[in-house]
Amino acid sequence: MSKSQILGAGTGPRVAVIGAGAIGLGIGWRLARAGSPVTVFDRGEAGRSASWAAGGMLAAGVETEPGEETLWQLAALSQRLWPDFRYALQAETGQDIGYRDEGTLVIALTRDDLEQLRFNYEFQRSLGIELDWLAGTEARRREPYLNTGTAAAVYCRHDHQVDNRALVTALKPALLKAGGVLHEHCEVTAIEIAGGRVAGVQAGGVLHQAEVVVVAAGAWSRDLPGLPRADRPPVRPIRGQLLVLKMNPAEPLLRHVLWAPKAYIIPRRDGRLLIGATTEERGFDTRPTAGGVFSLLEGAWRALPGIEELVLDEIVVGFRPGSRDDAPILGPTGVDGLVMATGHHRNGILLTPVTVEAISQYVLTGRVMAEIQPFRADRFRRPEPELRS
Ligand code: GLY
Repeated sequence: MSKSQILGAGTGPRVAVIGAGAIGLGIGWRLARAGSPVTVFDRGEAGRSASWAAGGMLAAGVETEPGEETLWQLAALSQRLWPDFRYALQAETGQDIGYRDEGTLVIALTRDDLEQLRFNYEFQRSLGIELDWLAGTEARRREPYLNTGTAAAVYCRHDHQVDNRALVTALKPALLKAGGVLHEHCEVTAIEIAGGRVAGVQAGGVLHQAEVVVVAAGAWSRDLPGLPRADRPPVRPIRGQLLVLKMNPAEPLLRHVLWAPKAYIIPRRDGRLLIGATTEERGFDTRPTAGGVFSLLEGAWRALPGIEELVLDEIVVGFRPGSRDDAPILGPTGVDGLVMATGHHRNGILLTPVTVEAISQYVLTGRVMAEIQPFRADRFRRPEPELRS
C-alpha cells in the first residue's frame, strides 16, 4: 500500500500541477498566491525542457498565419497581459526577466520572399495587427548589419521578446515564495481517479492527494499514466533545434527580433544571439543533426552575414507540444478536477500569462473564460455515430 500525503493546507482547492515549465510554474505561482495549497511536479529539473529551448518571442503579430484567426485573439490577449505579468514577477523576485520591446522585423531577401512578405502583411493587417512596411534601405538604417540585398521589411512594434530562461529561473522562487511546493526529478507515475473525479497523483512512491490535477507536461502530456483514454490530449513532440552564438554585448549585431525567410534571430542583452528553429517530426530524439545546424546557419547567414565571425556556443534541442490542430488545449476535461494546460506548440512563452490567468480562474471559480472556450479539450471528442433506424 502506498503512503499518502495531503498537499498542504490553505483556503483554495488542493492542486497538483504536472510539469514545471513556464506554464506549470506560472499556474502554481498564481494559485499559491491566491491561497491554494499547490504542489508542482517535474520529471527533471524545473524549466529545463521546452521552456529552456524556446526563443521567447512574444510574436502574436508576425507569426499569425491564415487559419489561425481564433488563436490570434488568444495570443493578442496574452501579449497585452505580458507587461503586468512581467512586473508582478519581477516585483516578487527582484529578478530581471529580459523583456525587450524594440519590436520585430520580418525581412525579404528575394523576389519570392517579397511576395510572401506582402501576402502576410496584408493578411495580418486585415486582422487589425499594427505593421509598418519598410523599404530595404529603411530596414538597413534600423539594423545596419542586415544583408545589403534586403529587399523590404515589415516592422511590428508590439511583438516583443522575453528571455525564456530568465523567466523560468524567476518563476521557481516566485512559486516557493508564494507557498507552493516543487518536486523536481519526481515523475508522476499515476493520476489517481475515483468515482469520476481526480483524487491526486502518485509520485515518488507517495499518493499526493489533490482535488485538482493540472496537466502542464507539454509534449509528454498525452502519455501520463492514469489518464483515461478519452481524456488523453492529442499532443505529440514537434522537435526544434536552435543555436546560440555569442556576440560582444557592447557591439551587438542586431537589436530587434528578426524573422528572415529561413530562420529567426533573437539578440539577448548579455550577447547571446539565438538562431531558430527547425520543425521536425522525430519523436523525442535529442540528438542534433548536421542538416538542422546547417540550415539554421545558412538561413541566418543570408540575413546577417556577420554571424560567421561569432562563436557557436550551444546547440539546443527542444520539443514543442503540438496538438492535432496546432492550438493549445485548455480547461476542463471529462473527469472532474482534471484540467488541461498543454498543446501550446510554437507559442508556449507567449501564451503563458493568458494560460495562467484562465486556468487559475477556472480552478478557483469553476468559470471557463470566454477566450479559452474555443480551446477546450472536448473539441477533439468524436461525436457519437448516428443511429440508423
Ligand atoms: N515560436 C518559435 C518556434 O516555435 O520555433
